[in-house]
Order: sequence, then structure tokens, then C-alpha cells
Amino acid sequence: MKRITTIIALSLTVALASSAFGAEGGNPRKGKHLFKKTCKECHGAGGAGGEVTPMTKTMQQWDRFFEKLEHNPEPLKGLSEQDLKDIHQFLYDHAADSPHPETCG
Ligand code: HEC
Repeated sequence: MKRITTIIALSLTVALASSAFGAEGGNPRKGKHLFKKTCKECHGAGGAGGEVTPMTKTMQQWDRFFEKLEHNPEPLKGLSEQDLKDIHQFLYDHAADSPHPETCG
């Protein structure tokens, strides 16, 4: 009985840990490619949406941005949920307050 309780407690911890951080399970290499291909079209230097780089936001701000998808949905229509996860991961990994901030997409 004690063992079962431990297992339940452990799985709960894992579930909580992964939901606490928005950027999980994305592929940052794919995300970088998708970001350049899809987002930079409007968010390059002098672009219509203003320049956006991973350093535009902090890790927490990127989590919020993707959680609420604070964007006009129209340009993001062609992206799958996994695509967005990958882009989220890339931006998060190189956010302004991350260990490896990156200016270019
Ligand atoms: C078709 C053009 C277009 C594409 C493609 C596009 N955006 Fe945007 N984006 C805009 C425009 C225009 C705004 C400004 C909207 C506003 O402020 O009302 C904007 C706003 C933003 C902002 C807010 C800027 C800020 O300072 O908070 C972020 C962040 C952003 N976009 C990220 C992205 C990401 C990430 C992608 C790719 C997944 C993307 N955008 C794709 C046009 C685009």
C-alpha cells in the first residue's frame, strides 16, 4: 500500500513539474527554422510587425505569449500545435533572461 502511494505521489510530481513550465517538449532546432521561415517574414528588421527576436521577451513572457496566443491568429493558421511548441521552445531557450540569449532568429 505504501508503495502505491509513493508511485502516485511521484507521477503527480512529474505532471505538476511539466505543467509548471510552458516550454517543454518542443524541438528548438525545428523551432528556429520555423521561426525564420514563418515569423521573420513579418518580424525581420523593418518588418510589418516590428522586429521580433528571442530576446524581445523574457522566458516568462514567452510562456504567456504562447499560452494565451496573444497574436492575430490569421498569420499563424498554417502552423500546427507542435510547430508552435517548437517555436515556443526556441524563443524560450534564447529569451532575454535565459542562459543563452540570442538576438537573431
Ligand atoms: C503576416 C505577418 C505576421 C506573421 C507571419 C507573424 N506576425 Fe507577429 N505580429 C504581426 C503584427 C502586424 C504585429 C503587431 C500587432 C499589433 O500590435 O496589433 C505582431 C505582433 C507580434 C508580437 C508582439 C510584439 C510585442 O512587442 O509584444 C510578437 C511577440 C509576435 N508578433 C510574434 C510572432 C511570432 C512568434 C510569429 C511566428 C509564429 C509571428 N509573430 C508571425 C504580424 C505577423
